[in-house]
Amino acid sequence: MDQFKIGPSIYEFKTLIEFIDRFNVSSKDTIFTEKFLYEKYMKDKVDCNFIFQDDYGLGEPSDIIINKILKDIHGQEINRIIGIGGGTILDITKLLCIQNATSTEEIFEDKIPLVRDKELILIPTTCGTGCEVTCVSVVDITKRKTKMGKRIEANYADSAVLIEELLDSIPPKVFLYSSVDTLIHALEIFVAPTGNPYNDVFCKEAIKIIIKRYKDLVENGLEKRFDYLEEFLRASTFAGIALSNTVCGAVHGLAMHFGSVHHVPHGESTARFLMGVFNKYAELSPEGKLIEVSQIINEALGIDADLKGSFLALEELINILIPRKPLREYGVKEEEIEKYVDKVIESQQRLLINNFIKLSKDDLISIYKNVY
Ligand SMILES: [Fe+2]
Repeated sequence: MDQFKIGPSIYEFKTLIEFIDRFNVSSKDTIFTEKFLYEKYMKDKVDCNFIFQDDYGLGEPSDIIINKILKDIHGQEINRIIGIGGGTILDITKLLCIQNATSTEEIFEDKIPLVRDKELILIPTTCGTGCEVTCVSVVDITKRKTKMGKRIEANYADSAVLIEELLDSIPPKVFLYSSVDTLIHALEIFVAPTGNPYNDVFCKEAIKIIIKRYKDLVENGLEKRFDYLEEFLRASTFAGIALSNTVCGAVHGLAMHFGSVHHVPHGESTARFLMGVFNKYAELSPEGKLIEVSQIINEALGIDADLKGSFLALEELINILIPRKPLREYGVKEEEIEKYVDKVIESQQRLLINNFIKLSKDDLISIYKNVY
C-alpha cells in the first residue's frame, strides 16, 4: 500500500508584504528569525514579537541553543509562530511549538507528549532544505557528538509559504549548497526502496529543474540565479514533499556525522558524499531505479549517455559550480575513516535503511576513501 501526505497548505508570494497582508500578521504573532533578515526585510514592515536566533548562538542548530530558547519562551502566551530563515531556523521553529517543552532532550527522547499548541507557519529563505513541508527537525546533539533527525507528526506546519523576495540577495555559496541539497534529497528518495509513485513525481520534477537550471548557470553565469529563484524554491519544496513522506539515504547518513564533527554546513557536507555514494550504487547494482534516474539526468542535460556516462556528466556539472574538496582538507585523517563509518552505522540507521541497496561497512569505507 502506498501512503502519501502533504502536510501544510502551500502558498507562493512575490513579496513579504503580500504574505503579511494575507495572513494578517500582527502584534499577537511571534516571528523567529535572524537579525540580518529582520533588518533587510521586516523592519518597519511588520509589528509583532521577534525572537532572534543570533541572541542565542550562530550556526547549525545545537541542542544547547534550542534549550536556551525553550526556557526563555516557556510560560509565554504564543498562539502563532512564524519561522523565517534557512533550515536551522525552520527546524528550531518546529521544536518551539511543542507544548510545555523545556529541553531538546525531552523532545528527542519522547519524555513529554509531542503535542503542538501553537499555529505554525514556515517561510524558507534558502532553496534547499524543504524543511517548510516536513515534520522533521535535525539537531546537533552535543552529548552524542552527531546530528540527529527527529520526526514529529504534530510538527507539519499549518502553512508553508514561499516568498521569492526573501531570496533576492542569496549569496552564491548559500544558493549552491542549499540547491544541491534539494537535488540530493530528490535523487536519494527517487532510488530509495521506500519510494512510491507519488514521491517519484515530485523527485523527478525537482531533479529536472535543478539540473536544467544548473546547466543554464554554468553557461550564463551564477548571477542568473536570480531569474530562476521561483523555480529553485519550488524544486526545494517538491523534494521536501517527498522528504516528508520518507527519508534520505547514505549520502545524508554519512554527511550528518561528518558535518557535525567538522562543523560543515549541511548542504556542503551532502555535496561531498553525493557522487561517492551514487557511483558505489552504480558499481554494485547498475539497474532499476538507478537506470531511471540516469535517464532523468540525461533528459535534463540533453545528452544520451549510459549510466556511467550520465553520472559522470552530473558530477562534472556539479564540480564546475561546487568545486570538489576532498575530506582530508576538512581535517579527516585516513586512519580514522573506519571510526567515522562505525559512528555512522551506530547513529544513522534511520537513514541507512533507506539506501538504494544495502551497503556494508566495507562499502561505506570505500565511499569515504573515494571522497577522502
Ligand atoms: Fe538535506
